Amino acid sequence: MSKQFDVLVIGGGPGGYVAAIRAAQLGFKVACCESNAYADPKGEPRLGGTCLNVGCIPSKALLHTSHLFEEAGHGFAAQGISVGTPEIDVPTMIGRKNAIVNQLTGGIKGLFKKNKVTLLNGHGSFVAQGAAGWQIKVGDAIVEATQVIIATGSMARHLPGIPVDNKIICDNAGALDLDAVPKKLVIIGAGVIGLEMGSVWRRLGSEVTILEALPEFLSMADVDVAKEAAKVFVKQGLNIQLGVQIGEAKPSKKGVSIAYTDKDGKAQNLEADRLIVSVGRIPYTNGLNAEAVGLKLDERGRIDVDGQCRTNLQGVWAVGDVVSGPMLAHKAMEEGVMVAELMAGQSGHCNFDTIPWVIYTSPEIAWVGKTEQQLKADGVACKVGKIPFAANGRALGMGDTTGFVKMLSDAKTDRILGVHIIGANASELISEAVVAMEFGAASEDLARICHAHPTLSEVVHEAALACDKRPLHF
Ligand code: FAD
Ligand code: NAI
Repeated sequence: MSKQFDVLVIGGGPGGYVAAIRAAQLGFKVACCESNAYADPKGEPRLGGTCLNVGCIPSKALLHTSHLFEEAGHGFAAQGISVGTPEIDVPTMIGRKNAIVNQLTGGIKGLFKKNKVTLLNGHGSFVAQGAAGWQIKVGDAIVEATQVIIATGSMARHLPGIPVDNKIICDNAGALDLDAVPKKLVIIGAGVIGLEMGSVWRRLGSEVTILEALPEFLSMADVDVAKEAAKVFVKQGLNIQLGVQIGEAKPSKKGVSIAYTDKDGKAQNLEADRLIVSVGRIPYTNGLNAEAVGLKLDERGRIDVDGQCRTNLQGVWAVGDVVSGPMLAHKAMEEGVMVAELMAGQSGHCNFDTIPWVIYTSPEIAWVGKTEQQLKADGVACKVGKIPFAANGRALGMGDTTGFVKMLSDAKTDRILGVHIIGANASELISEAVVAMEFGAASEDLARICHAHPTLSEVVHEAALACDKRPLHF
């Protein structure tokens, strides 16, 4: 006998678990199946996917610990605090990170219980379309559901000739679990993971070299932000080499030996204790048996969806990293909510133009909307308001004045088209810009709103004033 549900969600990451909870809130009988990718010690699946187990949350825990370590070693003295030379106990740091992961993944199981979502332990695999809906094999059982939401996420992309063992040569999973601070660490890819994990291990004492294929640094960010970030990260001690071509990585006496060609075409070799490969992620559809039911994938292996996450099959939806768009947890969650609401006949909606990006380095980098170079390429004239944190009293008090807020507004209508921040707490400050853009605000709207003093948010306020060339404190 097959189990029958209104909705089956395949995958318990941020896209999947949020879709399942919202669908249950809307009155559907919901199950979510999760394969054992992140099993707990009892062999039970851990929910939360990449984000909670080997992504957003563990990386931010390590970023926090390493930030405190760096502050204790290099920041405290300037404020008259002496603590001697700090030491890092890596197993304790990793244990704390694991405890946070356990707490949060367990918490989602609690949310499933509270919302009456049935958790099925096993990999979901399409069988056929039957009279009572889609038939999906989960473990040894067959589940039938009228609607299916695929939220199977992504996996790290690896490179040929560089076998990842997650001990010496690591992807994101191993990079979050190193047992000691490597003396020399090489990272392939100066993207989000490369910069975040490079920052963690550099702060803790590693000599970090990042090898990036592209000739430009952080090409997806606004050009001013990318320039400032490159300046700051190099000053902090990250050795970032652009325009390289990676060859092979082989085990060596020390750990690993990496062959590459530098930007001038010269053959180079680096010896390191550890290597992290962070060259992007690929959609994960392994074992889904998409071909059995004719589920359409696009040219990059992602599940093909329309602007509302519908696949080519009636009643089958897909959300998160496995579909197009930025691979971000909050984007996956938004899509999950949208799909659940659309299934319920509501007007579910996801505004892909206001999805914020954050890189949790120090200083943090965050943006929403278009970059100045994108607006130029689109032929859109804009006003630019750019204010440094150095002009802000709160930033001075915190001893952290790096960076700026740059606001771009339409030259004719003044509507905010993009906000780019590099500086302390950029991850939190960007929310104001997201809200403003979501409500179609003009820079004048933000300029006329009272901001608490003294706060870093005053820099956002000043950037809005600067769009009209009338900043008050700069
Ligand atoms: P996933 O989180 O990948 O979840 C998919 C789940 O489906 C997994 O649990 C998997 O086991 C399961 N699954 C797969 N196939 C099947 C199947 N057939 N049957 C049953 N279960 C299946 N994003 C941010 O927004 N902020 C950050 O700070 C951030 N930091 C990151 C740091 C790192 C190191 C990494 C790697 C990623 C980070 N991300 C961050 C990205 C974020 O983790 C992903 O965008 C997000 O997890 C995608 O959610 P998802 O639900 O689509 O997929
Ligand atoms: P990424 O796409 O951010 O960066 C990959 C980098 O590797 C790029 O700069 C690319 O040019 C470079 N690269 C690609 N092939 C290469 C090669 N052969 N040799 C050298 N360099 C090469 O991908 P990353 O850092 O792996 O992260 C994956 C995704 O996870 C991110 O795109 C993001 O969606 C998500 N993520 C989000 C975070 C956040 O929101 N703060 C944090 C970490 C990851």
